[in-house]
Amino acid sequence: MLSDPSKKYRPYRPIRLTDRTWPDAEITRPPVWMSTDLRDGNQALFEPMSVAAKLEMFKMLLAVGFKEIEVGFPSASETDYTVVRRLIEEDRIPDDVRIEVLTQARDHLIEQTMTSLRGAKRAIIHLYNATSPVFRKTVFRLDRAGVREVAVHGARLIKQLAAAQPQTEWTFQYSPETFSATELDFAKEGVDAVTAIWEATPEHPVIVNLAATVEMSTPNVFADQIEWMHRHLARREGIVLSVHPHNDRGTAVAAAELAVMAGAERVEGCLFGNGERTGNVDLVTLALNLYTQGVHPGLDFSRINDVARTVEQCTRLPIHPRHPYVGDLVFTAFAGSHQDAIKKGFAARNSDEPWAVPYLPIDPEDLGRTYESVIRVNSQSGKGGVAYLLEREYGLTMPRRMQVEFSHAIQRVTDTSGKEIHADEMWAIFRREYLEPAEPIAYLGQSLFDADERQGIRLKVREKGRDKVLTGVGNGPIDALLDALAAAVRVQHYEEHSMGRGSDAQAVCFVELACDGVAGDIFGVGIDGNIVSASVKAVISGINRIWARLPPTQRAALLHREWPDRHYA
Ligand code: KIV
Ligand code: ZN
Repeated sequence: MLSDPSKKYRPYRPIRLTDRTWPDAEITRPPVWMSTDLRDGNQALFEPMSVAAKLEMFKMLLAVGFKEIEVGFPSASETDYTVVRRLIEEDRIPDDVRIEVLTQARDHLIEQTMTSLRGAKRAIIHLYNATSPVFRKTVFRLDRAGVREVAVHGARLIKQLAAAQPQTEWTFQYSPETFSATELDFAKEGVDAVTAIWEATPEHPVIVNLAATVEMSTPNVFADQIEWMHRHLARREGIVLSVHPHNDRGTAVAAAELAVMAGAERVEGCLFGNGERTGNVDLVTLALNLYTQGVHPGLDFSRINDVARTVEQCTRLPIHPRHPYVGDLVFTAFAGSHQDAIKKGFAARNSDEPWAVPYLPIDPEDLGRTYESVIRVNSQSGKGGVAYLLEREYGLTMPRRMQVEFSHAIQRVTDTSGKEIHADEMWAIFRREYLEPAEPIAYLGQSLFDADERQGIRLKVREKGRDKVLTGVGNGPIDALLDALAAAVRVQHYEEHSMGRGSDAQAVCFVELACDGVAGDIFGVGIDGNIVSASVKAVISGINRIWARLPPTQRAALLHREWPDRHYA
């Protein structure tokens, strides 16, 4: 039994605006988006990202369209320092993009942070200090004036150091950390002091970032706090008002949306809501919520699976199958009545009219997802039952997304026969679907070799009745294999485990591939006593299955090198 909360917790209501205007506001254009995946998101990982993972994620964030990206906390992490240097020195930052770095308000940390940015064309230097009563009293043991002085001192030093690095076009950002738990008059006092030092003007605006470091209240209360600041801050026209909601109460998306209605012009968050504790606000959900209201968010999620797989690889955190817009199950209806309504919605659809399919707030195709799982899943037990039987009888544990894919193959059979299906028949269908296809490539064997600290592969295949040996080099066997085949596919996910036990044990490898021109991702499977052979077979299986789905006119581009004549056995 939970104990009586009224003795321990108080409702948080720092302000009650009586003349609030935000409830009548509508969001008609997107805020400025700032991705803090590489800073706040990264800080919250079991295993912070490596330099390579951060550079990969940065590239993806650029492709999505972010123009402001917080890339790290260089005074706190050597990896982050290296990343900032490499981004600048290797000229990886497009001219219209500003990288941002965070610093505490302490002299040597500010100095180190400014040094990390040497040579940047444009940069946002982000200063923060916590301002709430509990921090003042318990953590810093400072009064209001003391805490304000920390920010003021830091702001002065940043101004001075920035003047000594004039080759960079600077933007200054200040966050009263724990803003949502800070008295509004004190938050204003600190922000006004900082924007005065930085001389905020419309020509040189300062970013003021109001953080719900911990989400304290219902989103309407946060909106009142933001509207109050929006109306009372000095030099308002020289400020870009930003919010940074965390998700402790599970309402960060709503808080951000109401905050924008209340006057915020910029939102900081992470893709799919990664971040400390319950996460930063999810920028994908915010952006696509806008999209479904007819407002282009200015971010491109038309290949949402690619974005999701990159995030999962870099963060090593899985995305929940019911995560809005991206989860594996969000376009799948299990309930018969839902399926029926969806089918009727599709049948009645007129592409000249606004999207109106029951139970689907967005067209899955806009995100590069397919209609297949929406309209093909026939019964609740279908997918789970298939996976359970194949695991029990054959020791085959399929990745979850593949279970959905394979259940369609089973349904094609059950829909036709109308009968119950047994494990041996499922296994035969599985073999036909994944293991037997040998068009255009039949696997014959491979050997690996070292190639100047990289991995080389000599691959034997049969194509159009001719045996060939293809050579490739890469970062690992799969990379080398794709090089040998010159295959225009992207590996979205890879997993390998054993099947069976003891001396009979085999390796089973699953790869999830994406290819332009084929909707959704496609799985390939390889089974072999040798783990490398299982991986090679899996990739070839996936490529053959993609080939079968491509229109004949696009097939030549799948294996786009002139490889049939490249090497012969
Ligand atoms: O959550 C927070 O308050 C932060 C600040 C550093 C902006 O991450
Ligand atoms: Zn944060």
